[in-house]
Order: sequence, then C-alpha cells, then structure tokens
Amino acid sequence: MAVLKVVEYPDALLSKKAKLIEKITLKELRLIEDMIETMFKKEGVGIAAPQVGVSKRIIVISPNARRGEERVLINPEILESSEENGMVSEEGCLSLPGISCEVARAKKVKYQAVDLNGVKRVEVAHDFPARVLQHEIDHLNGRLIVDRIDFNRRQALLASYRRL
Ligand code: NI
Repeated sequence: MAVLKVVEYPDALLSKKAKLIEKITLKELRLIEDMIETMFKKEGVGIAAPQVGVSKRIIVISPNARRGEERVLINPEILESSEENGMVSEEGCLSLPGISCEVARAKKVKYQAVDLNGVKRVEVAHDFPARVLQHEIDHLNGRLIVDRIDFNRRQALLASYRRL
C-alpha cells in the first residue's frame, strides 16, 4: 500500500466528470488500497479517485475515521434525497487544504453502489455519513465544496486560498 499524492484545487481533474467502472481488475483493487491508505494518512473521512489523479467512479468513506470500518463504493449514485438543503454544516476537503465552509446537504440519501465483490447494493445513509457520501459523489461529478456556496462567499474563500 502506498500513500498517494492528493490533487489540489485548481487542478482541472477535480472539475471533470469521472468515468464509470466497467470491471474491477487488480488495477482498481490496488488503487482502492492506496486510496484507503491515503485517506487515513491525511486524516480524511472520505476520498474520491479523482483526488488521487484517477478519473474513475470510486470513493472510499470512513465517517467514524476508524481503520477497518471504511467502505468502498464503486459507481455510487444517489437515488433519492430528502429535502436538498436539510442540514448545514462546516466541511473541508483534502483537495482544498486550509479551506472550510458551511455546506447545505440532504439529511438522508438513498443510494446504490457496487461493492468490492461486484455486487450492487442499495442503502440509506443519514446525517454525517450522508454528508460524507454526498461530498465524495460530488467529486465524481466534478463539484467541490466551493461550488456549493454562494458567489461572494466563494470569491472570498478562493482569494484566501490563493494567498496560502
Ligand atoms: Ni473533498
């Protein structure tokens, strides 16, 4: 396992729509192991493949930040959301070091994803795990937390980011 370099804003890869996984090969399995290692090393609670330079629809989440309890989600997709902006809370992102902002997310999401064995599952997530899931799926669609806030707030945050 290796700790990978995390791609940071404004890298163009972060605003690209990632590709669907058609087959889980050894290459994907190795990538997933490295994503897990990188997430824990960087003390993140989730990571998406584009953040390590691979434009594929794979995310790893660990809402309780406990090793061994991480979840691997391949081709994850939100099927249903409760009220879109039902919970507002502070979020950060490994690809925007030093930045955090209040982001509105759905409190409850029903989603589907393929697991490591290639089995498609439909599940429901609430509260913080639902937030992490929405954040990481956003990455697969080329969206960052700064794309989820109003224009003025975004300009101010990005100006401070550039000064870091
Ligand atoms: Ni992020």
